[in-house]
Amino acid sequence: MKPRIAVLISGRGSNLQSIIDAVAAGTIDATIAVVISNRAGAQGLTRARDAGIDALFINPKDFPDRDAHDRAIVSALKARNVTLVCLAGFMRLIGAPLLDAFPQRILNIHPSLLPSFRGLDAQQQALDHGVRVTGATVHFVTSQLDDGPIILQAAVPVLDDDTAETLSARILIEEHRLYPEAIRRVLDGRWLVDGRRFRRTRA
Ligand code: GRF
Repeated sequence: MKPRIAVLISGRGSNLQSIIDAVAAGTIDATIAVVISNRAGAQGLTRARDAGIDALFINPKDFPDRDAHDRAIVSALKARNVTLVCLAGFMRLIGAPLLDAFPQRILNIHPSLLPSFRGLDAQQQALDHGVRVTGATVHFVTSQLDDGPIILQAAVPVLDDDTAETLSARILIEEHRLYPEAIRRVLDGRWLVDGRRFRRTRA
């Protein structure tokens, strides 16, 4: 059976779309078992349904706390035999119930070259700091924000007349290339996590 992926979103879902497209093209050999959003109006839910993918809104307000919401997500994932969870613009911290249910099987994409500019508005942080190069990172999710082992990165130059919008748009182009490739590597048995490093196994 092909690996079964879940994608967790909160909004636009352009990275979700890049994963849908890569699965359709056969460059990711997996099935997208479910898309889950914590926001009702997320455009990504429509993208998922348009692609015939099971799409759920799991409302945080229906649960007393974050762990209970996490447990509901875990139940939905386990019920669909999901083995890899991809966060794609999921604007919520991941708690122990979800982390413990999928050890080293949760990925995230972040719009900077980590460990620079963790957290919100990474593109604006890069502009404010005055770096000449920023980029995108796909990494494993741990209990620390934007801190797990790095799977892939891509650099994006900062131009003199960049705004957060123009810089974000160029980073996004790299994200759409990067995330499917990172998923491919994680699903390929020849890569492993070695301390903080994600590397090829030695033959
Ligand atoms: C991306 O910039 C991603 O790096 C960040 O949130 C944004 C999500 O965009 N985590 P989209 O919803 O995939 O279009």
